[in-house]
Amino acid sequence: MAITRTFSIIKPDATRRNLTGAVTKMLEEAGLRVVASKRIHMSREQAEGFYGVHRERPFFNDLVSFMISGPVVVQVLEGEDAVKRNRDIMGATNPANAEPGTIRKELAESIEANSVHGSDSDENAKIEIDFFFKPEEIVG
Ligand code: PPS
Repeated sequence: MAITRTFSIIKPDATRRNLTGAVTKMLEEAGLRVVASKRIHMSREQAEGFYGVHRERPFFNDLVSFMISGPVVVQVLEGEDAVKRNRDIMGATNPANAEPGTIRKELAESIEANSVHGSDSDENAKIEIDFFFKPEEIVG
């Protein structure tokens, strides 16, 4: 299996509850390596751009407002089949539907405050990594 990269966000509900380390530990224990990481407070323009594909969804404004409600930690994760590995440990979008042992089941508060974002394809991982990181900020 090839070593690939994915993009992750530790969302404001998790940073607010001081769970950055707890989330990262679960990612690492799932076989992912943090090869870039920074704590930022997204601007509204950044959040609207990042979530642009969801612009027509009914929850778009709530999602953007939530994502700028506090600091987030953006990360590049590396590992075997990183996109799938990350989505497996994240669990379902709605924590009520997530499997035990996943980040969202164990740590998330609600479908909005669901603690983590992860890219859904290799193609989107590249776009999302490039949105937040310069190549020299990623150290594999
Ligand atoms: S889809 O259809 O797979 O693209 O959608 P999904 O992954 O379920 O959701 C996309 C992102 O929107 C967030 N989301 C919500 N935010 C606020 N309110 C509601 N009701 C809601 N439903 C979904 C969800 O957490 C996803 O955020 P990211 O950051 O991409 O994980």
